[in-house]
Amino acid sequence: MPIENAATAELIKALPKAELHLHIEGSLEPELMMALAAKHQVTLPYATIDDVRRAYNFDNLQSFLDLYYLGASVLRDEDDFYRLMWDYLCKCKEDKVVHAEIMFDPQTHTERGIGFEVFMSGFMRAIAQAEKEWGQSTLLIMSFLRHLSEESAFETLEAAQPYLSMITAVGLDSSELGNPPQKFARVFAKAKSLGLLRVAHAGEEGPVEYIWSALNDLDVHRIDHGVRSVDDPALMQTLAQKQMPLTVCPLSNIKLCVFSHMREHNILSLLDSGLLVTVNADDPSYFGGYLNDNYHALAAHLPITQEQIKTLAANSFKASFLAQDKKALWLAQVAAL
Ligand code: HPA
Ligand code: ZN
Repeated sequence: MPIENAATAELIKALPKAELHLHIEGSLEPELMMALAAKHQVTLPYATIDDVRRAYNFDNLQSFLDLYYLGASVLRDEDDFYRLMWDYLCKCKEDKVVHAEIMFDPQTHTERGIGFEVFMSGFMRAIAQAEKEWGQSTLLIMSFLRHLSEESAFETLEAAQPYLSMITAVGLDSSELGNPPQKFARVFAKAKSLGLLRVAHAGEEGPVEYIWSALNDLDVHRIDHGVRSVDDPALMQTLAQKQMPLTVCPLSNIKLCVFSHMREHNILSLLDSGLLVTVNADDPSYFGGYLNDNYHALAAHLPITQEQIKTLAANSFKASFLAQDKKALWLAQVAAL
């Protein structure tokens, strides 16, 4: 097993990076979960923080999602959402994530009677503070829960109308199998007509047909995960030719048993095939690490070179929704290292 060397560790620390696949609800650390449960008298099936951590053993995506929605049930008031966002943005500062495109799941909250005004004002207060304090750059991606109906997604888009100036893109997450992208084709078309950009989870557990559907039916700008692309050479060729970004999440893929071990991860073959691959944390609190931990895990278990690490960091800016001039500034900084 290649051991990560000190120079690689230094490079990972020094590189400016963008994070493009991060669920804010998945950054809820056990400490905050327990504190908010006590604050709001929510009963969780855990007595201690260690009990929470011990529960983080997943067989597949659904076994994780069950805990993820349970955890999110402690988020109740504006201050809770502020704190959740603030804690993640502080991690960005630590990991040199200079730009973050952050997903949130409105339906996880609106279904519990918590309205857009509550979570949006909490998020925006933290975002404005981080921008003011250290120049943190942030965009928001509103994700629809694909296990819910098309009608529920339309209602969510409607409820989001007063907040559209704060939302850059829509996304699609939750239980993939049995909920193909085409289920949301009309919602995504409406989102496009409102000027929203589009991303979708596809090919995490689902088959390559779901990746084709995300491209053809949702007109996405990025595929979240997409690691199953390797099953279809024609799809690989299309993704490479379009330079369609994949937001790959290595630690997530191991925790959810998409690959049996980091040694088995296909990120380097995706990269070698000319795809625009990026590295991301997905749900860092549940999957054992933030963005730099994902880079370190690759360096510890795969024969990744420093040039490839720099390519992954550069790709994160290329695949972002930043304006061209901002991309160019960050790409120059990556190249200078
Ligand atoms: N996949 C699908 N839905 C999700 C995920 C994920 O990795 N994280 C949070 N919701
Ligand atoms: Zn995800």
